Amino acid sequence: MANIGMYVGSSNGITMAVAKQIKEALTEHSCDVLDLEDDYLGFDEMLEYDVLIFGCSTWGSGEVQFNWVEPLQDLYNDKPDFSGATIALFGAGDCKDHGEQFVSALGLLYDKFSERGARFIAPFSTDGYTYQYSNAVRDGQFVGFPFDQVNEKDKTAERLERWLQVLKAELAE
Ligand SMILES: Cc1cc2nc3c(=O)[nH]c(=O)nc-3n(C[C@H](O)[C@H](O)[C@H](O)COP(=O)(O)O)c2cc1C
Repeated sequence: MANIGMYVGSSNGITMAVAKQIKEALTEHSCDVLDLEDDYLGFDEMLEYDVLIFGCSTWGSGEVQFNWVEPLQDLYNDKPDFSGATIALFGAGDCKDHGEQFVSALGLLYDKFSERGARFIAPFSTDGYTYQYSNAVRDGQFVGFPFDQVNEKDKTAERLERWLQVLKAELAE
């Protein structure tokens, strides 16, 4: 059983709603869901978890959701050591109106925490997704689980189920 900390930045509650579904599915693990709006206390606390799951929607044009700005500034300033950390990523986007930067915030988090030594688990196939460009794709796969509740709400449950299988298998290793 892993002690999981799920840190979520979500402006309209879309990413947070899926965070709660992910927690419910991880029945074999202990999982705290922390809303970055209220529950961000710095990296010492974050690094006490065995596994981290970061939820972040994309805003601006390919930017992280607002509540991730302060943690990323701290990451840049304090340069904490994430070399022992394991992270999975997920987040909402819009593949039509913002298809030029679909869920790109996940790619930003991937880059910034990789620089600090973090190891990422549970990438996801791009099969079935349509968008112009995404900074969240590395080696032909999304770095985490992207979903679109604006245009493709009907696809989210099936996609989430497939991603959870990947995540659970990697957590069991
Ligand atoms: C002003 C604005 C900018 C956005 N920019 C992007 C973007 O660059 N890429 C993307 O995939 N989605 C973008 N979106 C879509 C949001 O990510 C989407 O609405 C998401 O469901 C919000 O989730 P949240 O409630 O968890 O914050 C944008 C939405 C708005 C209103």
